[in-house]
Amino acid sequence: MTKTVATAHSKILILDFGSQYTQVIARRIRECQVYSEIVRFNIPAEEAAALAPKGIVLSGGPASVYDERAPHPDPKIFSLGIPVLGICYGMQLMAHHLGGQVEFSDRREYGAGMLHVANGSKLFDGIGDQIDIWCSHGDNVTAMPAGFRSAAHTENAPFAAMEDPARKLYALQFHPEVAHTPRGKEIIQNFVFHICGCSMDWTMGSFIEEACDRVRRQVGDQKVVLGLSGGVDSSVTAALLHKAIGDQLTCIFVNNGLLRSREEEMVQRVFDENFHIKLKYVDAADRFLKLLQGITDPEEKRKIIGREFVKVFEHATEELLAEDAANGSGSHGGYHFLAQGTLYPDVIESVAIGGNPAHVIKSHHNVGGLPEKMHFELVEPVRQLFKDEVRQAGLQLGLPKEIVYRQPFPGPGLAVRILGEVTPERLRILRDADTIVVSEMKVSDWYYRVWQSFAVLLPVRSVGVMGDQRTYENTIVLRVVESQDGMTADWVRLPYELLARISSRIINEVKGVNRVCYDISTKPPSTIEWE
Ligand code: XMP
Repeated sequence: MTKTVATAHSKILILDFGSQYTQVIARRIRECQVYSEIVRFNIPAEEAAALAPKGIVLSGGPASVYDERAPHPDPKIFSLGIPVLGICYGMQLMAHHLGGQVEFSDRREYGAGMLHVANGSKLFDGIGDQIDIWCSHGDNVTAMPAGFRSAAHTENAPFAAMEDPARKLYALQFHPEVAHTPRGKEIIQNFVFHICGCSMDWTMGSFIEEACDRVRRQVGDQKVVLGLSGGVDSSVTAALLHKAIGDQLTCIFVNNGLLRSREEEMVQRVFDENFHIKLKYVDAADRFLKLLQGITDPEEKRKIIGREFVKVFEHATEELLAEDAANGSGSHGGYHFLAQGTLYPDVIESVAIGGNPAHVIKSHHNVGGLPEKMHFELVEPVRQLFKDEVRQAGLQLGLPKEIVYRQPFPGPGLAVRILGEVTPERLRILRDADTIVVSEMKVSDWYYRVWQSFAVLLPVRSVGVMGDQRTYENTIVLRVVESQDGMTADWVRLPYELLARISSRIINEVKGVNRVCYDISTKPPSTIEWE
């Protein structure tokens, strides 16, 4: 589980019972500029209290309190004197543990509803008599525990919200964290500020200062190495570490020959020339391309690239040591620390029972992860942050927009967008097509509005006609998707004129292409990348 961090901030703990919205609750609270952290559902009450939270939220979850393997909190959570807000399954747990009644239902109720608010609940301060809400629950609370009163009802549920203000216990049957409950944010604000008494002290400036302090305490005067990919996570990590420890940081940037057009120039320009970060540029393109010769199987490509990356990286750190020794700068026993741009969603453990499978799906993306045998101690200064928070940190640290708002790019690079064999000629075709896609998306202001927009080269040739000539050339697929986190995605309804411009430019300007298709598949069941 996540290492919790001792901070001087107001803090809200969220006990995770496996809801798909647990992370959304954490984000909503952080949007109030209050620090929130997700912890395992069965954290012992003493441990929770030792973290000194101002409030505790029990998330929703797919289980029924009557399931044999249902996740339950330590019941002492309810008597710590710290305000608790139960949401959905969290409300049923509160009712169940404190002597109320929960009626089992084997059917889930989804959808919108109208909430009628009773007078006087602090949770609904300033919200009026009725609001739209969104529910997704199976069981129902049919009798409140002693000491509770109903704070709101719906047509079907007399206790859509209940509370015992004397014990600081509050519960909602609906989901205030989702967009379909339009005034849910105000309910969360009421809990966080009026009930828990938090201050708005979670700001990016304070985060950066604290993160720098933590890094300095962790690494002392030792050296840190970081694999820089040019993506937002590793870039922000580099900028933050540079601010914290200056020249104790060296970044290694590996050109695996599978980068987008002029990517290596851009990364060197930003980090070396603008930030003066120590950057070791390793051009290993030939090595990677040689190993990929004749390989067409997607998994094999990924494995080869992952393995080779580790070798190149290991070799580069050895070279760094040798260079340090040669120029007498000493190495304090070598590069003991490895920095990584791990983000918060990567470190939250999901609940085993009915927990979301996101974790499992994601693990295959950690290719290029460096093996444990390298014995590095990890420095992960942004592991508390969500993606949008990392972007804010990047802007505050002075990174350019072209890095901070860069679209995600897979570790194995263009190799997974070239179906079939990766050859220098096929890389040239894909790079040229991709450059046109990026440039047209930027000019039309679409680039920063979508999750990803890129070209894919198929191993399929088709017949065309150019002038009087028959052609038999390659096919490019255009893939443009919107997504929140890459786990699900939909294709973007781009204007026809833009599609037409991209298509005609690719066919006219990229030698070897005579056909462009638009990918209209959603994820699931398709994936975003083609391999
Ligand atoms: P898929 O293709 O699985 O991709 O729908 C989901 C998101 O992950 C990115 N992706 C990767 N990122 N290393 C990465 O760092 C990888 O090996 C990798 N494969 C896919 C993909 O671009 C999309 O944003």
